[in-house]
Amino acid sequence: MADYKERWQTVQVEVANGIAWVTLNRPEKRNAMSPTLNREMIDVLETLELDDAAQVLVFTGAGESWSAGMDLKEYFRETDGKPEIVQERMRRDCSQWQWKLLRFYTKPTIAMVNGWCFGGAFSPLVACDLAIAADEAVFGLSEINWGIPPGNLVSKAVADTMGHRAALYYIMTGETFTGKQAAEMGLVNSSVPRAQLRDAVETLAAKLLEKNPVVLRFAKHGFKRCRELSWEQNEDYLYAKVDQSNGRDPEQGRQQGLKQFLDDKTIKPGLQTYKRG
Ligand code: COA
Repeated sequence: MADYKERWQTVQVEVANGIAWVTLNRPEKRNAMSPTLNREMIDVLETLELDDAAQVLVFTGAGESWSAGMDLKEYFRETDGKPEIVQERMRRDCSQWQWKLLRFYTKPTIAMVNGWCFGGAFSPLVACDLAIAADEAVFGLSEINWGIPPGNLVSKAVADTMGHRAALYYIMTGETFTGKQAAEMGLVNSSVPRAQLRDAVETLAAKLLEKNPVVLRFAKHGFKRCRELSWEQNEDYLYAKVDQSNGRDPEQGRQQGLKQFLDDKTIKPGLQTYKRG
């Protein structure tokens, strides 16, 4: 098994029992996302994609914060006045992991929101497939408080998850809300007391680990495109995902599932997953 200790400066990665625990590791800066962290996260995601031991990825933060958003010093102030091309590249790194790689990642992803979650952190939060927060976690679209409208894909992310009124309320007031409220609004799947957070995430990850990974990938990718396509395009696209999944699945899940239900009568697919292997 690969040893990722000390491999990255701003991110810590540990793989155990099929789960890759990816921890943003700048607790002294509340895990604010600096240009270095953004570069490293691209490498982390590309590396874990090829690591068979990492089947489900969990994203969390060291210390009391999930992430305090973009690094206001290193990402904003220190790049003000730098050549336009440098800023362009920095933004590209940021989108590359926080959105492009993460949203359509090849493996299931869970955000485990242990604490502060502000501004730019909403992009990777929503890009993760699923999210569980500590009841006590504190969320905020704080951009308005320090003088910019939300950038990158923060507003798009909240438009896709929170209700229209709630999203605008928090964008326009910069007020904070808790993990519990985030769950009520649909920004995260659920919230639990902080002391139970890791167990809750492990239980969810265990459910995902039982599923056929190829089918899981095409199911989530199919869903994530749905909002962007018309009904006609969706029908074509989702059928294409079904065919792609059938063609690419080395364990032939569809045949297994049908056989176990129709011939062997050993499963009820409405109630349980087919037996793999
Ligand atoms: N960018 C850069 N540095 C940050 C940061 C950010 N987003 N968030 C926290 N830090 C730094 C602080 O400047 C401080 O650095 P210092 O020790 O060199 O002074 C350190 O992290 C600790 O922060 P502090 O504010 O003292 O911690 P706290 O626990 O009292 O408060 C927060 C935590 C998250 C409420 C507070 O740090 C905060 O409001 N951060 C900004 C959040 C934000 O608006 N993010 C949106 C960015 S898009």
